[in-house]
Amino acid sequence: MDAVRQIRFKIHRYNPENGAAPHMDEFVVPVRRGMTVLDGLLYIRDNLDSTLAARSSCRMAICGSCAMLINNFPQLACHTQIEELKADTVEIKPVPNFDIIKDLVVDLSPLFEKHTTTRPYLIRPDVDEMENPTAEFLQTPEELEAYLQFSYCIKCGLCLAACPTVATDRAFPGPQALAQCYRYCRDSRDDGAKERLPTVDRDRGMWRCHLAGACSEACPKGVDPALAIQLLKRLRVSRALGLGRKRRPTPVASPPTTSQPKLPVPEFTVEVSASPAEKQEQEG
Ligand code: SF4
Ligand code: FES
Repeated sequence: MDAVRQIRFKIHRYNPENGAAPHMDEFVVPVRRGMTVLDGLLYIRDNLDSTLAARSSCRMAICGSCAMLINNFPQLACHTQIEELKADTVEIKPVPNFDIIKDLVVDLSPLFEKHTTTRPYLIRPDVDEMENPTAEFLQTPEELEAYLQFSYCIKCGLCLAACPTVATDRAFPGPQALAQCYRYCRDSRDDGAKERLPTVDRDRGMWRCHLAGACSEACPKGVDPALAIQLLKRLRVSRALGLGRKRRPTPVASPPTTSQPKLPVPEFTVEVSASPAEKQEQEG
């Protein structure tokens, strides 16, 4: 059986409804090998203090819900093993640069608002083609690789929490939105750069990034938003100088020529046997 270590969790508490000042609470958690910081928080909520507020969902670094400041570094609680922290105390605070709703839960609305402002979707010249597509837009493997890394963003907000520019200017779009702006501008199927770039090429926009690189260090998905921002700046300058590469028209796959026969869908895929009471009724 795995050895159990007693680890002290120091957790930021704040509840705007009870009027108490923000403070740190301490809990001792029995930790086994393989336990994540999120497991520790769920242990506390299940066994020690059911009022603790913390956000989580997938427990596998996919949904981006459990971003927190763990021992002073912004990270995902479900992706951080307690053992790897190599400390007897785990200090957990809400991620900086966001307003706190309760305990470890922050208001992520600014992240989503900034993300939306950059129009994070394919924009095509032919609106009818977009709204009534007949086939796929084709792309070569090289065209895909030009933006693929930046499309791994799970919108956890850790890069905004780490960014020193966001810390001093909440109007700055931040690494997440800027990386997504580049991701869509760089997509060979997209034609929306002329609409998208003005949303970030402005006072307090992308030029305020001073390449601290803290966003890329914090990003749990390897997106490297700092790189995306520099490439975005280069794209903007190239377009201003008329040096932008000519985009080839996006090839569209031919629509299927013969209609595929539809496979019959079985009405039921699982046979449900009668319950003992039903069997008795049928037999009687
Ligand atoms: S770029 Fe990375 S750190 Fe920033 S929101 Fe996306 S996944 Fe999270
Ligand atoms: S719970 Fe989904 S990323 Fe941690």
